[in-house]
Order: sequence, then structure tokens, then C-alpha cells
Amino acid sequence: MKTKILLPTKENINIVGRALQNGMLAALPTETVYGLAADALNGNAVKKIFKAKGRPADNPLIVHISELEQIERFSLVRQIPPQALLLAKHFWPGPLTVIMPKGKAIPDEVSAGLDTVAIRFPSHPVVRAVISAADRPLAAPSANISGSPSPTTAEHVFGDLNGIIPYIIDGGSCSVGVESTVITLCTDTPCVLRPGGITPEQLESILGRVDVSDAVLHELKPGQKAESPGMKYKHYAPKADLILIKSSDESYIDYVNKRACDTTGALCYDEDVSLLNVQAVSYGSKYDYASQASKLFDALRQLDNTNLKTVYGRCPDTTGLAMAVYNRLIRSAGFEVIELA
Ligand code: TXA
Ligand code: MG
Repeated sequence: MKTKILLPTKENINIVGRALQNGMLAALPTETVYGLAADALNGNAVKKIFKAKGRPADNPLIVHISELEQIERFSLVRQIPPQALLLAKHFWPGPLTVIMPKGKAIPDEVSAGLDTVAIRFPSHPVVRAVISAADRPLAAPSANISGSPSPTTAEHVFGDLNGIIPYIIDGGSCSVGVESTVITLCTDTPCVLRPGGITPEQLESILGRVDVSDAVLHELKPGQKAESPGMKYKHYAPKADLILIKSSDESYIDYVNKRACDTTGALCYDEDVSLLNVQAVSYGSKYDYASQASKLFDALRQLDNTNLKTVYGRCPDTTGLAMAVYNRLIRSAGFEVIELA
């Protein structure tokens, strides 16, 4: 299959909208990461997503809408919890996914057999225009091969899915850079299953108490069940062995420089680069969590273009937006963290 990269003109948006109506796949820019979209109400179209990505069938997909009224019009949920309306008022359109009781129109392929469904109303004008052109909700996971970092540019998508999907719409770099926050309203207390562009603090300011799932910051213990199936899979792993170092600035620089050799590198803050004697890729400023989120996945992909065998990563903070960065990096590192005094 030849993969076409299209600019987001009105004509191209209509072409892709029609292709989606006909059960084809297309990769689309959103404000978080690029998504690999199919008609969410067509089980056979959705199956193609799992095949293209090599995604385990038990990992459910997020359903994307471009207008709130689509939730009822397409019977996406059984009922809309009042808390969902509050979240919608404050954070939609935007990088927040809300899990609700599944409606009758959702095929089993989307929900992976669960009785809940994840709904997201993205803010990026291109994905919204395509949903509106297709006039149906779109199921879309991140547009990468399962296990690799999520794509934040059309080139990243092309690198992973060239020859496998017919269309990529190029909308430039994604501004948030990490996937949406996933919150479930199907538990007694609302619970964050995946941190993202909307922080737990922001959610608590609207909902009152919000829990954060154990799996967000910690490795699941053997036999412990993941509330979000996606959290149990190996994710975002670079080819090199990535080890996170939790320490002061000085100790990090010292630790890495003592181990300098051709095949050892660093995944660090902007401020560290000039102080390191090894090949260093930065994932944003120590003082700017938003820059870390937006650069992280590109930095992980850059590491794969080197011959580095061991990479020492700076362990991010866990507060605010940095929680989302930490959640991704700790998985990239297979939960390997060295704590220095
Ligand atoms: O920002 C995003 O959310 C991007 C863009 C494309 O919208 N999408 C994305 O999708 O990151 P994906 O499939 O890579 O991640 C979806 C996550 C997975 O961890 C999945 O297990 C979880 O959401 N999920 C989906 N439906 C769920 C459900 N009903 N219950 C629990 N977790 C669910
Ligand atoms: Mg993904």
C-alpha cells in the first residue's frame, strides 16, 4: 500500500472523511499525539487499527468526537454521569479522556469487551474537522507501532506505518506532546488511570477528591490487575538500555561523566547538555514541564537513531504536568531507577 501524506486542506479533509466512512484508516494530528483513526461504530474498520499497530486485542480504544451532542446522537454511552458534564464544561475540547458506561452503539472491538467506553473531545482543529466531515465518532489510539513512542509529528507516523496505512494528514508538531489524561467515572471516586495534559490538581479543583491509580507511578506487582489495560504493556522503550537517575544536578552530571564512553549517552534536561561529556539528547528544560511533555517522545525517537547502548536519563519530577512525563519515562526505562544521595 502507498501511504499518502496530505496537507490539511478542505479538499483533503473531505477525501479522508470519505475514506473513513468507507472503513479505511487515516492518521490524524491532535493536540496530544497523532492518532490512527477508524469509524468507531464499524467493528471491521476498528479491527484494521489493531492489525496495523500490532496492538493486543484486549487494549480498548478511545472514541473521539467533535461536538458534545454526538455522545447522545450516536448512543456512545449508557448515561452521561453529571461529573462528565462538569469536566466537559471545563476541559473540553482538550487533552482529557473520560471513561463512562458504554452505550449500545459501541462495538466490542473498541471497548475490548469492557462495559465502559473512553470518550475524548480533542481541541485540534484538523481532527475535529475530519470527525465532522466523516460525520461519525472516530476510534483512535496513538499512531505508532505498539510499544514504540507515540508520534508527535507526521514524520514519526510515516516512520512507523509507511506502507501499512493509506493516509496521514500532516498538521505539524503536536503541542501537548503526551497523550491525554484518562479519568474514569465508573469507580466510587473518580480515578486518573493515565496522567496527561490535564493534571490531577486541575481535575480535583472541579470534582473534589480524585484518586490516582497505583499503576501511574509504580510498577504493577505480579498478579495486580491494571484498571487501564494499556498500563500493563511494555511501552515507549528505546533500543538502548535506559536507566533513570534520581539525584541533584551535580550528582547526575558527575555520575554520567564518570561512565563516559562511545556507547554511553544521556537523556537529560536542556540545562545539562553543555556540562556532559557524553552524547546527550535533551527532553526539555528542568524548569518547564510543558516543554518536557512536548519534547519527550521526539527525544526517545532520537535515541533510536544513535548507536548508544546505555543511556542515563534524568528522572523527572512527579508534580503537575511532570507526572505525565514521569509516567512515560519510567515505562521507557522498564522501571529501572538509581537513586543517588
Ligand atoms: O491523547 C490521546 O489520548 C491519544 C490521541 C490520539 O487521542 N490517544 C491515545 O490512545 O493515547 P491509546 O490507545 O494509545 O491509549 C488509550 C489508553 C490505553 O491505555 C487504554 O488501555 C485506555 O486508554 N482505555 C481506553 N478505553 C478504556 C476503558 N474503557 N477503560 C480503561 N482504560 C481504557
Ligand atoms: Mg498509545
